[in-house]
Amino acid sequence: MRPAGLPLSPTSSLPPLRSLPTLAGKQLFSALDNLHELYCPVSLSRAIKSQLEHGKVHDLPVQQVDSGYVSETEDDIDSEGALDALRADDFERSYAIRWLTTLIARAEELPLDDEDERERVVDKASYVLASFTKAVDEDEEEDPGLTRDFSFMLTPSDASEKINIDVRLHDGPHTSTDHTDVGLQSWGASIVFSDLLCASPARFELAQSALGSSPRIIELGAGTGLVSLVLDKALLHLGISDATLIATDYHPAVLDNLKSNITLTRAGVKACALDWSNPIFDAPLDSSADVLVATDVVYALEHAVWLRDCATRLLGPKGVFWLMMTVRPNGRFEAVIDSVETAFQGTCPKAADGRHLTILAKENIEKRQGVGRGDESGYKLFRIGWA
Ligand SMILES: C[S@@+](CC[C@H](N)C(=O)[O-])C[C@H]1O[C@@H](n2cnc3c(N)ncnc32)[C@H](O)[C@@H]1O
Repeated sequence: MRPAGLPLSPTSSLPPLRSLPTLAGKQLFSALDNLHELYCPVSLSRAIKSQLEHGKVHDLPVQQVDSGYVSETEDDIDSEGALDALRADDFERSYAIRWLTTLIARAEELPLDDEDERERVVDKASYVLASFTKAVDEDEEEDPGLTRDFSFMLTPSDASEKINIDVRLHDGPHTSTDHTDVGLQSWGASIVFSDLLCASPARFELAQSALGSSPRIIELGAGTGLVSLVLDKALLHLGISDATLIATDYHPAVLDNLKSNITLTRAGVKACALDWSNPIFDAPLDSSADVLVATDVVYALEHAVWLRDCATRLLGPKGVFWLMMTVRPNGRFEAVIDSVETAFQGTCPKAADGRHLTILAKENIEKRQGVGRGDESGYKLFRIGWA
């Protein structure tokens, strides 16, 4: 038995998942605090250690200092041993991960007082979840990430036969130290967009009659590359045998993961660096694209304008830019909700022929059950072209 006051095991402390829709905020936070204390303990001792080093330890209550860092008794050592064993217990970790993942996915169903409280629950759960994907101890091995299998039903417009488009790719481990490596994961928008593309290629003008047999297609902010990898397989079945597909991103670790996904899938996709904030249009980006695609790439105020300017340089005279934006109506992403519409209003940069890009059509796409994070409420699909 472990001494009182220490965190409890996930299996004995977490409320059953079926009770989520009836849980009060207090119960949720208490469960999350327990998990936080168990799996994210480094912060307390590091914080105290750092304050000791900086001579600020007297600001802390005496009891907190004693229990966390300063005077380690035999009881403390026993407790730490028991806690280390509990932390290393694979079954308990898997149980906690499943509980947290379900909580985040079903956050909308929680009967909480307001959206701020919901956001705090999701943030706290995500924080604890992230601690499982990083090496807590420097001696520990890096988390290898996750291999995911996707399958989409391609329905060619002649409806001759339906074909499964299967893609296996690797979601890299998200590091808690680098908040810009979000492209190591496949986001809900890329999954929903891939599904829409396959369900109705004609809606996206993916036909030889529209694009010829050797179009150039460029993805912006490709992340794991799901959309490009799906296109690579799907186009062959649509009579487009010689497409050039270029998946771009700016983050070095994301680009490495993208390249290994291309190798894993044996796809004919090229990976290439492109930073929208400082774009360099060297080969292979020196020729224009017939189609641009981008999913979940608008999550800071400047993104929409940067993307518009890149698209103005990259899109060919008859080209179309499909942009699927994720709608996150609460919290810090609320501010970007209308930023795509705003970026294409007013003064837009012009191409050599004097035309500028504009939103030709916009459609709201519903969130799918079990796809995407709990803070996503749906998507906006923009068809952007020349005017
Ligand atoms: C939320 S992820 C979406 C990734 C992928 N499109 C998906 O839907 O799964 C955003 C992507 O945009 C990329 N990104 C962010 N800022 C960028 C920039 N300035 N230039 C190029 N890519 C950028 C990130 O590296 C990341 O891959």
